[in-house]
Amino acid sequence: MRPTADSATRKGLAPPEARSSWLIVLVGFMGAGKTSVGKILGQRLGWAFEDLDDRIQAREGRSIEQIFQESGEAEFRRLETAALRDLVAELGCASRVVALGGGAFVQPENARLLEQSGAHVVFLDGSADELFRRCQQEQKSRPLRRDARQFRELYDQRRPFYLTAALRVDTDGKDPDTVAGEVTCSLGVL
Ligand code: S3P
Repeated sequence: MRPTADSATRKGLAPPEARSSWLIVLVGFMGAGKTSVGKILGQRLGWAFEDLDDRIQAREGRSIEQIFQESGEAEFRRLETAALRDLVAELGCASRVVALGGGAFVQPENARLLEQSGAHVVFLDGSADELFRRCQQEQKSRPLRRDARQFRELYDQRRPFYLTAALRVDTDGKDPDTVAGEVTCSLGVL
């Protein structure tokens, strides 16, 4: 499961013997497929998968939608950072895959936490049009997805932050299986 020293070095990663575990973190805008791809990666690699939004909801006993409605976005961001800090602190010797909500990596404190943790941050990219279409087809309630124009504006604001990730994988026209395959191949983990 672990990468060979050769493949890891080629990708600029620390060789496996120097690491106790791997943390792959999927970031990107709403509709990028972070959760679907993360689940597939977890299954293929035999690693635990976690969605940070699920952790927030479980801790709060409220849905993301309720948190936004009752407490506002600023409080949601505070909870998001607290959840990420705990997740990073819990990292032991077991490798895992984590999907972040669309706004998490844009917060400098979260990006810093991930950098300090040695996580491999993977940006799942896609055009605003395709991401908007995917969100429309999903049942998931997303407080920050309103109309197409607002969606694109937020996408444009955030994309430069996502581009600071170590790896970018384009998801347009691809299913989650294909994207997961590209992630493992690029990181040299399978
Ligand atoms: C958000 C995206 C959502 C969720 C919350 C805020 C955002 O996650 O964290 O609604 O700021 O873009 P997904 O990206 O999984 O939809």
